[in-house]
Amino acid sequence: MSILDLAPVVPVVVIDDVETAVPLARALVAGGLPAIEVTLRTSCALAAIERIAAEVPDAVIGAGTVRTPADVAASVKAGARFLVSPGSTPALVDAMTGSGVPFLPGAATASEVLALAERGLTELKFFPAGPAGGVAYLKALAGPIPDVRFCPTGGIKPENAPEYLALPNVGCVGGTWLTPADALAAGDFARVEKLAAEAAALRG
Ligand code: 3PG
Repeated sequence: MSILDLAPVVPVVVIDDVETAVPLARALVAGGLPAIEVTLRTSCALAAIERIAAEVPDAVIGAGTVRTPADVAASVKAGARFLVSPGSTPALVDAMTGSGVPFLPGAATASEVLALAERGLTELKFFPAGPAGGVAYLKALAGPIPDVRFCPTGGIKPENAPEYLALPNVGCVGGTWLTPADALAAGDFARVEKLAAEAAALRG
């Protein structure tokens, strides 16, 4: 399975209340976005991954903001089916390689991309996409390094997502815009489903 090919957009989700995890995941899947990245940025993130893994079988649930080997172990134990990291260190990449699940290690420069490619890793997260150079930077990387594909995240919105998705070295994009904090707080999962459906249609 390539995470990059599951859907044009991977929702990057910050869950503050574990009770929202299952309805949120159901709404994203119903909208057409099965791959969901729950970031390890809140105290209930692992519990949220566990709930979604157990109760939303159609979701491909992953862990994001994976920063340490301990995060890798805890994520896989919770049921994460893929891992995403904002950057890459040798220890983190070793742990992700040994995890048994697919992963997108983070890179933001040509040297970081080459270091990961040297290890046989050719599907990466490009982060933080906007500040690191955005579409122009990815376009420039595709010349000398055409065999590496990316999921850019950081600063991506419905308005600029199509520009990224049109690049030959972009498999999908990620972002937090699909799950606005106010919609989650209000339990407005219909809005989440609508945003997901609009995003799922982006590659049209
Ligand atoms: C990430 O962790 O991938 C980014 O923080 C998502 O960035 P966004 O909020 O700009 O979509």
